[in-house]
Amino acid sequence: MSVHVEDTRKVTTHRLIEMKKRGEKISMLTCYDYSMATIIDQAGMDVILVGDSASNVMAGNVTTLPITLDQMIYHGVSVTKAVKRALVVVDLPFGSYQGNSKEALNSAVRIMKETYADCVKVEGGAEIKESVQRILSAGIPIMGHLGLTPQSIHKFGTYAVRAKEETEAKKLIEDACLLEELGCFSIVLEKIPAQLAKQISEELTIPIIGIGAGPYVDGQVLVMHDMLGINKEFSPRFLRRYADLYDTIHDAVQNYIKDVKAQDFPNEKESYS
Ligand code: KIV
Repeated sequence: MSVHVEDTRKVTTHRLIEMKKRGEKISMLTCYDYSMATIIDQAGMDVILVGDSASNVMAGNVTTLPITLDQMIYHGVSVTKAVKRALVVVDLPFGSYQGNSKEALNSAVRIMKETYADCVKVEGGAEIKESVQRILSAGIPIMGHLGLTPQSIHKFGTYAVRAKEETEAKKLIEDACLLEELGCFSIVLEKIPAQLAKQISEELTIPIIGIGAGPYVDGQVLVMHDMLGINKEFSPRFLRRYADLYDTIHDAVQNYIKDVKAQDFPNEKESYS
């Protein structure tokens, strides 16, 4: 099945808010390189997230914590070079914005100047209020990220569903309201109960994008390697796989090895005279 994207205009933060108003769901996917960004943008994705999950799926780290600002900028540049339509969001990595609003602004300015991205994403609520205010004061749009925030994995101790208990759910609602009040244009909610995500989507006017947050939000985001089945080990309940690229690539590589060993590749047609 192919999706026909009628509106080829560049997606902006304002257009996402309009989409929420008219009930049109927002599609969002992570991406970290030029070639994949070309395919994803031409397929009609609304938002491309240069996520710090690059730390896991591109660099092989166990958590998102080790990735640096320079590395995020490298991935951001690779993606924006390819993208014509989608809104491009770049994650501010761990340690580049928490606890020091001046450093937060410097980090966000570097992302915007060096990658040509459209906006940045940060994890957290009240505890990063000053950083959010300072970045927004420079005219840089911010997407928030609440619920399971992987940069705080050592505080949580587990990747289990967040905000199942009342106190955490209450804080999450307060944080979401605060981010909207401060001026964030959208929020990602990760791995929280579907009914809580529904309540927040209904209360807030900015678009809520879910990952493991159920169907009652304004859009969905997945990590590209997970949804394409490149990464076989990760199978949370919320993940739907749209391809089995691990097997496809594995088989193609084995066929190539076989042909080289059998001296079947290259043949005459594949050689120059
Ligand atoms: O870095 C990332 O991939 C993310 C998504 C899980 C939303 O933040």
